[in-house]
Amino acid sequence: MKAEGEVVMSWGLFNRLSRIIRPETGKTVMLAIDHGYFLGPTTGLEVPSKTIGPIAPYADALMATRGILRTSISPYGSPPVVLRVSGGNSIIGEELSNEGITTSIEDALRLNAAAVAMSIYVGSPYEHQTLMNLSSLVNEAERYSVPVLAVTAVGRDMKRDARYLALCCRIAAELGAHMVKTYHCEGFEEVVGSCPVPIVVAGGKKLPEKKALELTSDAIKDGAVGVDMGRNIFQSDDPVNMIQAVGAVVHHNVPVAEAYKMLQEAKKQKSSEKK
Ligand code: 5RP
Repeated sequence: MKAEGEVVMSWGLFNRLSRIIRPETGKTVMLAIDHGYFLGPTTGLEVPSKTIGPIAPYADALMATRGILRTSISPYGSPPVVLRVSGGNSIIGEELSNEGITTSIEDALRLNAAAVAMSIYVGSPYEHQTLMNLSSLVNEAERYSVPVLAVTAVGRDMKRDARYLALCCRIAAELGAHMVKTYHCEGFEEVVGSCPVPIVVAGGKKLPEKKALELTSDAIKDGAVGVDMGRNIFQSDDPVNMIQAVGAVVHHNVPVAEAYKMLQEAKKQKSSEKK
């Protein structure tokens, strides 16, 4: 018997989700390194193995494509993987929202993915296609108790405000996504409040480190279960200490000023060791 409002999920789904969202804090720091699927060799990820190797141990999960997993991430002791399974577009292509599903659920299982991830483009020319991609992926993934993370990708002309993001997140949850990734915005509590599944926040373009920590802290205060951050970590001049500062804010509610101070001190220490 399930209590009213209790989510009905299989043991396998819960178990996989608990590999991504740490049960002891109920939060997660995911490291997004899937940018190349439509951006090619993104700054900081030109040689993925070089960048990812030292940071990966501090991430609760890695969000990556199968190509980067196979070539650039050691299978020994890797954090759980949220496998990006959508693509077929590029930053210079005609229409960014024209994505399809690129990777089968069997391949996701062979790669021991903890979840699969794909983008939806609400309000864009291929909205319907991407929403149907999500629905089909949920149908497939649920056969094997694999959670689906929907990324609310934003078309070039879309405004990232609470009204729009709440629409995207709610649609993703209604179609069966088990987690949603979106952007932080003013009034983000409304986005969280109207989305019945956990939300992680993307970092977006590189910000000064203190600002990125503020974004993290605001997202957590507003109800996100964590971040799925890429550029603000791997484009930092000290990615290893930056991801730990983000982790301190996410998992231990360390105030931004303190996390930033820890980061500056760790950098100083590192540079004095180099001398
Ligand atoms: C693109 C993605 C990326 O993983 C994500 O948005 C990148 O993270 P960041 O913005 O923090 O660099 O899902 O659709």
